[in-house]
Amino acid sequence: MNPLAIHGGKKAVPDGLIKTWPPITDLDRQYVLASLNQSNHAFGPNCAAFEQEFSAFNGNRFAITTNSGTAALHMGVAACGCGAGDEVLVAAYSWSSSATCILHANAIPVFVDIDFDTMNMDLTKVDAAITPRTKAIVAVHLHGLALDMDALMSIARKHNLKVIEDCCQSHGATFRGKKVGTFGDCAAFSFNQNKCLCSGEGGMFTTDNDDILNKAKMIWSFGETRTPAEDRDYHAYALGWMYRNNDLTAAFGRAQLTRLSEYLATQRSNAAVLIESLRGIKGLTLPTEPPNHEHTYYNFTIRIDPTALRWTDHPAKLRDAMMKAMQAEGTQVGIWQQFILPAMTVFQAQNAFGKGSPWCLGDPVEYNPMNFPIAQKHTDSHFGMTTPLRAPNGPEQAKAVGEGIRKVFENIHRLDVPGILS
Ligand SMILES: Cc1ncc(COP(=O)(O)O)c(C=O)c1O
Repeated sequence: MNPLAIHGGKKAVPDGLIKTWPPITDLDRQYVLASLNQSNHAFGPNCAAFEQEFSAFNGNRFAITTNSGTAALHMGVAACGCGAGDEVLVAAYSWSSSATCILHANAIPVFVDIDFDTMNMDLTKVDAAITPRTKAIVAVHLHGLALDMDALMSIARKHNLKVIEDCCQSHGATFRGKKVGTFGDCAAFSFNQNKCLCSGEGGMFTTDNDDILNKAKMIWSFGETRTPAEDRDYHAYALGWMYRNNDLTAAFGRAQLTRLSEYLATQRSNAAVLIESLRGIKGLTLPTEPPNHEHTYYNFTIRIDPTALRWTDHPAKLRDAMMKAMQAEGTQVGIWQQFILPAMTVFQAQNAFGKGSPWCLGDPVEYNPMNFPIAQKHTDSHFGMTTPLRAPNGPEQAKAVGEGIRKVFENIHRLDVPGILS
């Protein structure tokens, strides 16, 4: 038996087998150099072209390129009319700015627990979270899996709520064959280092609604009503920020966008290989792809079932010990969020703008972490990966990672952790 790598055995995934993300080709070099060699490095020709090409890719009428996904989220919340003291619903488990974008608009996040299987907002719990102050829902499509947008949009319509889709992790994911970002009132995408469309940093705001577009543009560029490409009057007509993208970044994003569909197809086929190699492992819960959904596996997320492994201590202790061993095998797995959102200090201390704002502007809300048991259960038991399944990695890498994970699960009794039963 090959000992675990953590005990000096041979790694299941040899060094150098997993290639880094994103693949860079001559096309990227060509686009970025061409941007450098022209004279507008701010909102230049690549920004306008990126907006057109991304809206065509996603099937939206309008797109605005931003300097982050968070900027695009804030633009969405504010352009949907959420303001002082309004309540906005969001999943209790996500990236922090899925919720802090609500604070940026001086509105109050109200959390909804997640569904364990999909890891997205539990739509059966939304109705109970709605109050007369609720204005909107930030609908996060997490890990590359879309929410059930039939169910979500029917709740939103019933209560007259706006929907801001957080697509930062789910470029190209579909529900009933339609891409995320085309269901709600507007959407936000991120192009940071780790995203399926990477331009270093950056983002995109999309909408099909003229009024929301115009409001979002003011927030995006200093509260002005004319775009930097037009004849600006430098007048702040409303409160605005500086959320614009720059030409070099947009050029990089445009080059990567030409290969996005190919990247996503590779990711799905790599995920299928990994799923096959992990099937049947005791104590390991694979990600699900419900009917009518096409998962992109942006983050391939696995959960450890402590009961199946007869572990009775805190689940995170077991997960952390196993993860160290899997990392030693060279699998490049990691833990994403270690805290549910309501447990984060900004919500526990309610310390956003000072003097109690925005919470003092509305009704009291409770951020008791005990109210989100499923999000907590997920947080304590998950691990996952991004890079090993990304292009240019293929079935060889997916299989090797599967072997590394299997090796640790099958040799769990060899881990040096008090409480692990042999
Ligand atoms: C779900 C989600 N929302 C929002 C963001 C924010 O995107 P950015 O880092 O581009 O601001 C991220 C990025 O990690 C994310 O994963």
